[in-house]
Amino acid sequence: MTRVTITGGTGNVAQYLIEEMKGKYDLVLFDRVPPGQNRFQYDINHPVVVGELLNVEDCERAVRGSDAIIHLGAIPYPTELPRPNPLPPNAGPNLPYDETMKVNTMGTYYLFEAARRQKVKVVVTSVSNCVLGHFEAWRPSGTFFPIDYLPLDENHRKDVEDTYGLSKQFQEEIGHMYARAYGLKAYGIRPSGVQRPERMKEYAENYKDPDRWMSALNGYADIRDLVRAFRMCMEAGLRGDLPPYDDYYINNADTWSLEDSKAMVERMRPDLAHLAKDLVGRQSLISAKKAEKAFGWTAEHSWTEFLPVGAKRG
Ligand SMILES: NC(=O)c1ccc[n+]([C@@H]2O[C@H](COP(=O)([O-])OP(=O)(O)OC[C@H]3O[C@@H](n4cnc5c(N)ncnc54)[C@H](O)[C@@H]3O)[C@@H](O)[C@H]2O)c1
Repeated sequence: MTRVTITGGTGNVAQYLIEEMKGKYDLVLFDRVPPGQNRFQYDINHPVVVGELLNVEDCERAVRGSDAIIHLGAIPYPTELPRPNPLPPNAGPNLPYDETMKVNTMGTYYLFEAARRQKVKVVVTSVSNCVLGHFEAWRPSGTFFPIDYLPLDENHRKDVEDTYGLSKQFQEEIGHMYARAYGLKAYGIRPSGVQRPERMKEYAENYKDPDRWMSALNGYADIRDLVRAFRMCMEAGLRGDLPPYDDYYINNADTWSLEDSKAMVERMRPDLAHLAKDLVGRQSLISAKKAEKAFGWTAEHSWTEFLPVGAKRG
């Protein structure tokens, strides 16, 4: 059976990725937090390597014998800025200011180096749509992210002001370098904010039209759809159906709002109205068409599944 190492293997997204992959792949999980001590509790029936991404020997132990890696391990917010509220329970209130930059860049470098040494064929990295720099809370300048066209796609310019977005750019570049130099294949998946079913249910049951521009561009990635994207991208890479390296936005086809996207942009960002005229219905403001074309991924879910019966549906 094809062997796959999942880094960040006791974390949030890993819970759903393990469900998606189990039975089809021989899984090895790698995380610095042992099972049962991370922020979501779930049963783990696969070998776990407890270790540090910042240690190349730990990375080698975790990837030895694997054909592919799905790299989820990271600090998922910028530690130099005020912490998210509420703080993810495993975030560690006292992480030093440079933890995000260190773990996400150097940790990814050591992981790719271990992959090269152990002759891993494909590495799929969970990057983020934060490579754009579009999340208002993480723009210390207080300016809006500059939008050139809608929907955004992989050709749109980036404008980051935080180490999370910057480190996610570096993660992609590290993969590209290893692919060019050493022939392993490297793909970046750029999810929008990841949503678990229980969170979407809570949101749907308390839904109100947003009253201000949501700088994450009102997008989201259903965790069930996202983990399919990791698997499908990895499988296409292993089959040789993709270029040696590439990066793909993954988000659901609709927005986090029930209002039509054109009307939403006109209401909250009239300065962008001229860019919104061709948006159709509740169309997402970031396109996932490239992933669809490359490895056949489309979203199968929407948070509107969780609207109470009789509520307006998109
Ligand atoms: N959750 C989101 O909304 C979102 C959105 C876009 C991208 N992403 C990315 O997806 C990936 C998974 O996110 P998640 O929500 O599961 O986050 P998470 O924090 O639940 O999981 C990340 C895991 O990485 C582990 N880790 C951190 N530093 C490590 C180190 N130095 N050595 C070994 N393990 C380490 C943590 O213990 C944790 O279990 C991350 O790369 C994140 O940046 C998440």
